[in-house]
Amino acid sequence: MSPDHHAKSSTADCRLIELERFGSLEGTLSVVENGADSPLGYEVRRVFYVFDTPAGATRGGHSHRLDHETLVALAGSFDVLLDDGSGRGPRRVSLNRPNEGLLIPPGIWRTMENFSAGSVCMALAELPYDEDEYVRDYDEFLRLTAAKR
Ligand code: TYD
Repeated sequence: MSPDHHAKSSTADCRLIELERFGSLEGTLSVVENGADSPLGYEVRRVFYVFDTPAGATRGGHSHRLDHETLVALAGSFDVLLDDGSGRGPRRVSLNRPNEGLLIPPGIWRTMENFSAGSVCMALAELPYDEDEYVRDYDEFLRLTAAKR
């Protein structure tokens, strides 16, 4: 599988996206819909979410060769640490708004930490689940991004 995205990826390309929201006195609704007006720039083919995360847990700890993912704090809050392998140190982004997404392109090592009690982390993924598309070994990630250092 091509490692191209690791060679070119940059944490500067990870961006916060304001999701459409409809508010009323009875509450707020946010929506993401595939199509030309999608703020994500890719079609969502998979949705997963992480909940019951114990205090002090660290999740993630991988990069994707191909997959774009957008993370949303549906409830509570957590921090995302983004690393492109350039050696500049990770960029930290805190998520705590259900209508805000953090778009992470392929080739970015991400870990999530500082989960608040009751937090729910939703991911909107471009691709179906494929373990071969993951890089879970940080040494391999460093090899794939070596040209940046
Ligand atoms: P994992 O990627 O380790 O979670 P995180 O990055 O949040 O720490 O996934 C946990 C488990 O769930 C692992 O056994 C793979 C499985 N899984 C699926 O079967 N399908 C999926 O779409 C995802 C994201 C994970």
